[in-house]
Amino acid sequence: MVVYFSWSGNTEAVAEAIVQQTGADVFRIQPETPYTDDYDALLDIAKEEQAEGARPAISGRLENLEQYDVVFLGFPNWWGDMPMILYTFLDEYDLSGKTIAPFVTSGGSGFSGTINAIESAEPDAAITGGLSLGSSEAREPEQAVADWLQGLESGESGIKVMTNYDKGDEKMAAKIIVQSEQGQVTYELNGSAAASSLRGQLPLSLAVEDFSTNEKIFYPTQALDTTDSPLAKGGAGTLAYYAPWGDAVMFYGDFRENPDLFELGTATERADIISKMSGTITILAAE
Ligand SMILES: Cc1cc2nc3c(=O)[nH]c(=O)nc-3n(C[C@H](O)[C@H](O)[C@H](O)COP(=O)(O)O)c2cc1C
Repeated sequence: MVVYFSWSGNTEAVAEAIVQQTGADVFRIQPETPYTDDYDALLDIAKEEQAEGARPAISGRLENLEQYDVVFLGFPNWWGDMPMILYTFLDEYDLSGKTIAPFVTSGGSGFSGTINAIESAEPDAAITGGLSLGSSEAREPEQAVADWLQGLESGESGIKVMTNYDKGDEKMAAKIIVQSEQGQVTYELNGSAAASSLRGQLPLSLAVEDFSTNEKIFYPTQALDTTDSPLAKGGAGTLAYYAPWGDAVMFYGDFRENPDLFELGTATERADIISKMSGTITILAAE
């Protein structure tokens, strides 16, 4: 079942591609009182709704939800969050025991903190890796959707899953993307056991914290397996794992080697954003 909300059609295009490729049924969330067609006015309305914690009423009802195991849930990013009508949906329908496959379209913010929000609203549902597309990518979503579905089917999670990724193959490069409000940084992983075990936990959405004057850190949900993993040697731009504390470290300045600090990879795009990151970050697997 594909459930989505779309105001200007981008999320709808992605929803349609999912329907086309899976044959799933579809339910479009529409407000009982339609939104304005005026973009600028909508910006203000959406912001107000968010500030008030509004629950705009949904027109119509989704029947027979119990017969579906998987719900593809799509929405545009509005002010770094889901449109409030998605909260209405999650309040009104119980997705316990189901698998939610989230997808978002945005001007660049991606999921922001919405995965956490879905998790809080539906604590007894499983959430897969999501698909995040920019507004223009969303207009030709077929390949991205196909890749995503293939990744979900093969049991991995994350967008654009490298289905041929072999955890044992040290030479095969795998990338991850760290998204933040300040922009997104791409890391190339080094193929170590520690890097593979980080990748296996994606997607993750969590808080980024400041540490010292050269590090931004986050805590993966589970400890990483550091068997035979190399120690961190690189300078600024290194992604590392500090085993005693179980935190991943994004260095933006030089650092000293340490016998408990393992190298996971190196920033290959937009390393300049690391020092500015704050709030919630989302970490996704990428090709
Ligand atoms: C009210 C409103 C708020 C938005 N806020 C954000 C935002 O915080 N970050 C972002 O990247 N894009 C933002 N956008 C852009 C939309 O997420 C983007 O255009 C999306 O693809 C629209 O999807 P739709 O065509 O399915 O409605 C916002 C758009 C609207 C209308």
